[in-house]
Amino acid sequence: MNIAVFASHGGSDLQAIIDGCKTGKINAKVAVVISNNGNSMALQRAENEKIPCYHLSAKQSGSEEKLAEEILDVLSKYNIDMIFLAGYMRLLHISILQKYHNRIFNIHPALLPKFGGKGMYGMNVHNAVIQAHEGETGITIHRVNAEYDSGEIVAQTKVPVRADDTAETLAARVLEREHEFLIEVISDIANGRIVLGKDQK
Ligand code: GRF
Repeated sequence: MNIAVFASHGGSDLQAIIDGCKTGKINAKVAVVISNNGNSMALQRAENEKIPCYHLSAKQSGSEEKLAEEILDVLSKYNIDMIFLAGYMRLLHISILQKYHNRIFNIHPALLPKFGGKGMYGMNVHNAVIQAHEGETGITIHRVNAEYDSGEIVAQTKVPVRADDTAETLAARVLEREHEFLIEVISDIANGRIVLGKDQK
């Protein structure tokens, strides 16, 4: 299984996926990395690992349509079976969603449907969890559709919220768990326990 990982910033989730593939815990390969942010650590990590990587953005391409065409070309070039959004801060164009129907997944650092939707990313999520005095939070991996955080949930795991947590301490605990959980769930996708769409590549 050839995976394309899309990431905008730090890429620690990307690194966990790469490491999971390298150690054989995930029966797949990160074939390409795409980022909308030319300065992202995610691109740096891909380069360090000698994985092909692309900085593709609407600003550079000239329009959302052209960006989608460029992304689709890259995905075809690397014969991609599955797309994983690991901290990618953009919605995908409908042409990508259609071509890779049920083959695109996102990781979200909370127990969706709570604490999701537009604007709910990064520290905003953890701040909201703390302010709501939740006793637990977690991680959701879901299929991607045309709206933020609303596709079918394929896996969730819980993470405790401690009484003395700040958004920062909570974020760190969730992210650490993400790195293990990604391996478990992507391994399930690679082994067919979580089913991909039948659409042609
Ligand atoms: C993670 O919290 C993930 O849940 C969210 O974006 C963050 C990515 O972190 N979708 P990193 O850039 O991989 O370190």
